[in-house]
Amino acid sequence: MLNEKDFNQLTLPQILSDIATKFPNKAAFSTSLSWEDQVITHHIFSLDLPIKVFTLDTGRLFPETYSVLNRTLDRYKKKIEVYFPNFMKVEKLVTEKGPISFYESLENRKECCFVRKVEPLNRALQGTDCWITGLRAEHSENRSEMKMIEFDDSRNLTKIHPLADWTLEEVKAEIAKHNIPYNSLHDKGFVSIGCQPCTRAINEGEDFRAGRWWWEDNSKKECGLHVK
Ligand code: ADX
Ligand code: SF4
Repeated sequence: MLNEKDFNQLTLPQILSDIATKFPNKAAFSTSLSWEDQVITHHIFSLDLPIKVFTLDTGRLFPETYSVLNRTLDRYKKKIEVYFPNFMKVEKLVTEKGPISFYESLENRKECCFVRKVEPLNRALQGTDCWITGLRAEHSENRSEMKMIEFDDSRNLTKIHPLADWTLEEVKAEIAKHNIPYNSLHDKGFVSIGCQPCTRAINEGEDFRAGRWWWEDNSKKECGLHVK
């Protein structure tokens, strides 16, 4: 059984190595190519760990995000598995509701997130016993009480957030220390980056996730990937 207290004593490379040992070929890391996720990817690839790295390409990502994906493949020469939404579901959604239905209601927004992210995520996690993410407690009110290790009952797997306690400054320092490729939008006020139509830059003093689904109430701002 994994112990959070033991993890607290370990460095990030040690935590990731430990996960790879405890879940041989059964651990997967979901990367959105954010700066947090790039830090984790760097260590998985540099240590050549048997952890599957995958990303969900919603079809609505920023060109800058594809650029990070490309630069990461170039730099590490390792595989990042890309999952697309089910094309028939996207065709039906856009045919019936148009290309920007998510602005119209919370229900529509969740429907789009389900089709473009949650269903592909569920496929990506099939056969996996441990799911690693780049979530941090500092991200939002919703995440402030998070634990580094939890059990996801709905998916029946252990979920580990190795950067749970990291600050943004620590993440940036790690990026600089290892010269890790990162999204150029981060230098333009975009801190939390998702799909292009649902992400904007934030102003000084605004919350970390203020630029995500900015037209919605704070308590609603999760896309369903991490909802319990
Ligand atoms: S979200 O729920 O609001 O979209 P956020 O962008 O904060 O999530 O990212 C938190 C974690 O969710 C990331 O560290 C990553 O593990 C996972 N994640 C989010 N978006 C994606 C994506 N497009 N592909 C893969 N993983 C993702
Ligand atoms: Fe759709 Fe926006 Fe959710 Fe992306 S973030 S899946 S575009 S609603």
